[in-house]
Amino acid sequence: MSCYHIRGGRPLEGRLTVQGAKNSALPILAATLLAPGESVIENCPHLSDVDAALAILKGLGCRVWRQGDTVGVDASVLAGAEISRELMEEMRSSVVFLGAMLARMGRAALTYPGGCELGPRPIDLHLAALRTLGADIREENGLLRCTGRHMAGGEISLTIPSVGATENAMLAACGCPGVTRISGAAREPEIEDLQGFLQAMGADIQGAGTSTVIIRGGAPLRPARYRVMGDRIAAATYLCAAAAAGGQVALTGVDPEHLRAVLTALEQAGCSVQTGPGEIALTSGGCLCAVPPVVTEPYPGFPTDAQAIFMAALAGGRGVTLFRENIFESRYGHVAQLRAMGADIQVEGREAIVTGAGGLHGADVRGGDLRGAAALVVAGVAARGETRVTGLAHIRRGYDGLDVGLRALGADITETD
Ligand code: EPZ
Repeated sequence: MSCYHIRGGRPLEGRLTVQGAKNSALPILAATLLAPGESVIENCPHLSDVDAALAILKGLGCRVWRQGDTVGVDASVLAGAEISRELMEEMRSSVVFLGAMLARMGRAALTYPGGCELGPRPIDLHLAALRTLGADIREENGLLRCTGRHMAGGEISLTIPSVGATENAMLAACGCPGVTRISGAAREPEIEDLQGFLQAMGADIQGAGTSTVIIRGGAPLRPARYRVMGDRIAAATYLCAAAAAGGQVALTGVDPEHLRAVLTALEQAGCSVQTGPGEIALTSGGCLCAVPPVVTEPYPGFPTDAQAIFMAALAGGRGVTLFRENIFESRYGHVAQLRAMGADIQVEGREAIVTGAGGLHGADVRGGDLRGAAALVVAGVAARGETRVTGLAHIRRGYDGLDVGLRALGADITETD
């Protein structure tokens, strides 16, 4: 079984351009279904989740190609409107294809995405939003059969600012004649990136990044060329590694505003952070100090996807920090593995109390989910001694060469069998 072999405790130095954003690329790839013709997506990261999205598009009849960080999708001729069970299980966020399939083909069949390592992953808000637009959705034996022959714009009110439900509603509304208003929408930067691509396709859509998105749908759309924004969580990962190990790094290709809450927390932990257009520089003496409670919230609050990563950075520091995970039910899978590296972390329901151990030691640890596995790599880079991290399949879902990026910043990390 392959693993990352890390010799930790060295400061990080260097510059790195951050990968394209996984959570932008996936809904944008789904949106390519909305128009016949070839769309070209630049800065598309090499990820297993992107591979799964491309497999779904091919399964629907699209012709897809990749050249470096550029991906092409020709959705001229679609055949079939079904996503296989194995592809749905490979990537639960493929539910976002539902809105695009209804908008383009008026029908869709896919299996219920089901829960994952983070807890239940309900899609009730997705289905309610699509039903508001006139979709007929029947759930039978874990299969969702959807038809939307006569969909029309409507008023969608999301009780939770769900990223996926907002994206599904945006995509479906593009195919619905009339005005759709999505209130209570998620405000994540990835939603704005999706809006940017849809506008490039000719969609009349405004408001992404605020709680109200308005779409005037029904007009034919055209394929477009679009560059995916930088991945704010990948950026947070490299910054937390440098913060914990000490050193001086500079990241390019990501908007500092997209991870302001994380940058503020890193400054509170003792790092010096400078930002400019598309650039973040961080200097750290290592051994971080405690910070005010870290409470995960919808954007622009502290992102749930950075919770494990930041916890790993603080675990080897000093002082006591309270974490509260408000978004997902069970997102502390990384705690037991961090304890194996000497971390002192007490978990009580959605709260975790981290008491800095004044440095962690290397260990053989296993990642159980995407960001939890990345957190173990962050801890290993800062820890004294050698760490082996298994569970790389989780990491490959969301990081385009995490080991390569960290080596570029001076970490001693190699992938071994
Ligand atoms: C997106 O997941 C991201 N994934 C997640 O990133 C991210 O953690 C999450 O948003 C929150 O920011 C992608 O964009 C591909 P939600 P999503 O719907 O859309 C509840 C990563 O590490 N909910 O915003 O699935 C849900 O249970 C991944 O890159 C309902 O109750 O998240 C959760 O508690 C992990 N009913 C909360 O809303 C619904 O119909 C937020 O979930 C939908 C969601």
